[in-house]
Amino acid sequence: MLISFIAGINITLQEGCTEQTTLECLQNLFEQIENITVQELPVNTVMDILNMVFNTSEKILESLSSASPAELASYGNRVLQTSEKLISTLVKPTDTNDSVSFTLAALEVEVFMVGPHVTLKKIPRLETTNSSVDIDLIGIAKNNNLTRSAAVGFMSYVTMENLLKPDFFNTSNDTVKTMMSTVISVTLPKTTNTKLTKPVNFTFRHIREFDPNGSLSCVYWNISEWIVDGCSVLETNSSHTVCSCVHLSTFALIMQTSRAPESDSQLDLFNLVCVIVGLVFFSLALLTFALCQWSPGVNNVARINICISLLLAHLLFLLTQQFLNLIRPQQVLCAVISGLLHFLFLSGFVWMFIEAVLLFICVKNLSKISSKKREVLSSGFLCVIGYVVALVVVCVSVGLVPEGYGSEHCWIKTDKGFIWSFLGPVCIILALNVILFICIIICLNLSLTKLNADVSQLKTMACKTLGQFVVLGCPWILGVFTNNSKVLEVIFVILNSQQGTFIFLIYCVLNNEVRQQYRKLFRRLFCGHKKH
Ligand SMILES: *[C@@H]1O[C@H](CO)[C@@H](O)[C@H](O)[C@H]1NC(C)=O
Ligand SMILES: *[C@@H]1O[C@H](CO)[C@@H](O)[C@H](O)[C@H]1NC(C)=O
Ligand SMILES: *[C@@H]1O[C@H](CO)[C@@H](O)[C@H](O)[C@H]1NC(C)=O
Ligand SMILES: *[C@@H]1O[C@H](CO)[C@@H](O)[C@H](O)[C@H]1NC(C)=O
Ligand SMILES: *[C@@H]1O[C@H](CO)[C@@H](O)[C@H](O)[C@H]1NC(C)=O
Ligand SMILES: *[C@@H]1O[C@H](CO)[C@@H](O)[C@H](O)[C@H]1NC(C)=O
Ligand SMILES: *[C@@H]1O[C@H](CO)[C@@H](O)[C@H](O)[C@H]1NC(C)=O
Ligand SMILES: *[C@@H]1O[C@H](CO)[C@@H](O)[C@H](O)[C@H]1NC(C)=O
Repeated sequence: MLISFIAGINITLQEGCTEQTTLECLQNLFEQIENITVQELPVNTVMDILNMVFNTSEKILESLSSASPAELASYGNRVLQTSEKLISTLVKPTDTNDSVSFTLAALEVEVFMVGPHVTLKKIPRLETTNSSVDIDLIGIAKNNNLTRSAAVGFMSYVTMENLLKPDFFNTSNDTVKTMMSTVISVTLPKTTNTKLTKPVNFTFRHIREFDPNGSLSCVYWNISEWIVDGCSVLETNSSHTVCSCVHLSTFALIMQTSRAPESDSQLDLFNLVCVIVGLVFFSLALLTFALCQWSPGVNNVARINICISLLLAHLLFLLTQQFLNLIRPQQVLCAVISGLLHFLFLSGFVWMFIEAVLLFICVKNLSKISSKKREVLSSGFLCVIGYVVALVVVCVSVGLVPEGYGSEHCWIKTDKGFIWSFLGPVCIILALNVILFICIIICLNLSLTKLNADVSQLKTMACKTLGQFVVLGCPWILGVFTNNSKVLEVIFVILNSQQGTFIFLIYCVLNNEVRQQYRKLFRRLFCGHKKH
């Protein structure tokens, strides 16, 4: 591809480089540009050559991804040198003042020249989309005794951070570095005395969200690294930062944020053991409920389903956390898992509510428990309610804020309040349960006069359901407040993982009939042979 014959230069892409772009194509392009000896070029020619350089370097960026830092820096330097050389050909002698500016896909350029008879007191601020520069060009021109002229070239590179990575900023603190501005270059082309009369000031618009906990550094590029020497942050707010530097070169704004704290391996192991213990007891409780139909008057459906929902939820959560590194790259899978967790935990709560409602109905209709209940609240009907409510909440959440699923831990994202799609329904259910329990207690006290076996049995039942409610509901309330408190975190881990254990304790170990069933079972298992 031929660019231009004007002024006797022709920059061409090497043979075959349009089909397959290699590093050599770019090398060759650099060389051709370095070989240009003409002092002035038309703007259009410069734009075409720059486009060619940036298009070519963009194409080989992928093959550069495996390059060593030194190689990257070296390519970055050549892109900078090439651009600066081309920009200097735009400077033409002027008597008063003149300017040139253009915008390419990868680069924005402003050139301002002043001559011996400039009438301006101060040159206007040089602006590009995301950054601007204040420089005392008039003062610099006055310092050039011979020509009494000067020129400034201002370049803002849109994609340069791919080569001059923020990681090239080496600090004693091991922090995460983020490029907060476009990379800019300020040069004084064709100016003999480049000594600055005043510090040069840059205003950077943040191209990424500013983390209030981060620390900002104005840096300049010195051959192979970003360094701060001579640059400082003048002022900053959430969207802009003003930097001041006492020399010219290539600049950027880098934000340092502390690394995510190393996951606490002790706590992780403790959590793993706790969750596994909890899962074992969940399974035991589930088995017991399924095998022992001990109280015909009491419906087991709700309790079995609480166990199923929470067992699956805890199991899925455990597996997800163990294989997080494999799952996280698969955005969709991660989001689906967090949706499923949302559904399972929520249905656990809905079933808890159903259990309280069933108990309430029992207490209300003390006289006609067994006969009526079965028909009104058949298991099938309960299952529909127990799972459909949670499903509806998840579907609505997916419909409204689909991007709310799939956080770092494949759970619901906690920012922007999306977590309330879980906490909201949970709080409502907990509140309703509290109301129900108050009603149940009042009802039981009123019917105290009857003092029959039913009442005392219901009382124990109410106590147990209340205990279960506290055990299942508390961890989540606590979980919201664990912000970095070690003690609270440990309590949360214990309470949350031992839900299965508590349920097993309350309904199986502390239940006479179940204990008898167990005894029978053990006898059959271990002593059965002796009888024969
Ligand atoms: C640049 O110039 C040198 C000698 O001045 C020459 O050897 C080299 O081939 C030139 N490079 C290109 C790409 O034209
Ligand atoms: C470079 O790419 C842009 C679009 O990405 C295109 O408009 C332009 O023509 C290309 N320039 C050259 C010299 O290939
Ligand atoms: C840059 O800011 C400093 C401090 O506010 C000021 O002294 C200096 O004159 C400014 N430079 C320019 C070129 O405006
Ligand atoms: C970064 O600085 C540390 C000392 O502060 C030094 O040991 C290390 O070699 C430096 N790394 C690079 C890539 O310059
Ligand atoms: C590095 O860490 C020390 C203390 O750990 C802190 O005082 C200093 O400001 C940090 N430096 C940067 C550049 O963040
Ligand atoms: C300016 O910054 C915005 C982000 O704030 C970015 O999307 C845009 O591409 C940048 N434009 C240039 C020309 O650097
Ligand atoms: C780059 O840094 C070295 C020391 O760190 C210094 O001697 C040199 O002058 C710097 N170069 C430029 C262009 O600032
Ligand atoms: C932040 O600072 C910039 C430059 O100093 C200013 O233009 C902008 O209005 C400020 N923004 C806010 C939100 O204060």
